[in-house]
Amino acid sequence: MNKKIFSGVQPTGNLHLGNYLGAIKNFVKLSNDKENECIFCVVDLHAITTKQDPKELRNNIRETVATFIACGINPEKSIIFNQSSVPAHSEAAWLLSCSARMGWLNRMTQFKEKAGKNKEKASIGLFSYPVLMAADILLYDSTHVPVGEDQKQHLELCRDIAQKFNNDYGIDEFLKIPEPLIQKEFSRIMSLKDGTRKMSKSELSDSSRINLTDDKDSIVNKIKKAKTDTLPLPSTIDQLIERPEAKNLLGIYSSITDTTLDKSVDEFKGKNFSEFKENLSQVLVEKIDPITKEIKRLIYDKGFLDEILFDGHKKANKIASEKVKKMHKLMGF
Ligand code: TYM
Repeated sequence: MNKKIFSGVQPTGNLHLGNYLGAIKNFVKLSNDKENECIFCVVDLHAITTKQDPKELRNNIRETVATFIACGINPEKSIIFNQSSVPAHSEAAWLLSCSARMGWLNRMTQFKEKAGKNKEKASIGLFSYPVLMAADILLYDSTHVPVGEDQKQHLELCRDIAQKFNNDYGIDEFLKIPEPLIQKEFSRIMSLKDGTRKMSKSELSDSSRINLTDDKDSIVNKIKKAKTDTLPLPSTIDQLIERPEAKNLLGIYSSITDTTLDKSVDEFKGKNFSEFKENLSQVLVEKIDPITKEIKRLIYDKGFLDEILFDGHKKANKIASEKVKKMHKLMGF
């Protein structure tokens, strides 16, 4: 069976190493397999759940497309489009929100983290965000959804919503139940400043993350300053327990070099952090610098990026509007 792959990335600027290793690297691998049909969405409607400057948002949408292409996604083989250009997403989100339950959404940890203590002042969009995400996925009969570990709960919710909708309208497989594709290792890249917190674009300190637009010197400096502990590197994986920074940096090294954590631990056992960090910087620069250069080149070619989005819009709109029409019919409209 051909896999129908769907995933999305928010165009909120500062796409970083976590986005790359946790998600985009896997998009590239999946999209290189001829058996797969891939759709990658720039989820601009999700971005506005937090305040955005319209001009910056427009640039960030293009930068996200440039990043997909610079990382290796071929727009001739995969559909790349932005969510707001396909009205079916907003519409299906409403239709599905009538099957989704408050109790399910109330359990979403990402909402709790993002809303913080100020839950009453959080936007309704931030709360119902996972329903829009379910609409994204379900409109395309997606079979597999590659994401980082932080999106696991949202995907479980998507499956629950699909099942409930199918039950509500009495058709078993009308909405396909998608499988999450979360890598076993390195699906959660942590901050360079605190190995217990996720690397994130919303973190205030820029040195907590490696941005995909960082130049060589910034990468080297950020790795040099990355938090470590005082012990030498361990000789077994078990010894990484309670050493979150060492585990994260070794994980990044393994993921970038496509090796296992086991092998990386073996390569650096007993060495001190300064020697390991030199190796880590080198492999990071080798991998990220060409991507950075390509993003910076593509970003000036607005016409090219807009053409890709327009082409993707036409293809995605056709699939999604047909599915919404079928939903309407089923629902009695
Ligand atoms: P977003 O834009 O926050 O992140 C995009 C992708 O990057 C992954 N990611 C990470 N992976 C590992 N370590 C990290 N530190 C890290 N930070 C981010 C995320 O898991 C994600 O895969 N809700 C989604 C976007 C979305 C979506 C969808 C995804 C909207 N609709 C439909 C899949 C299918 C989000 O905010 O991702």
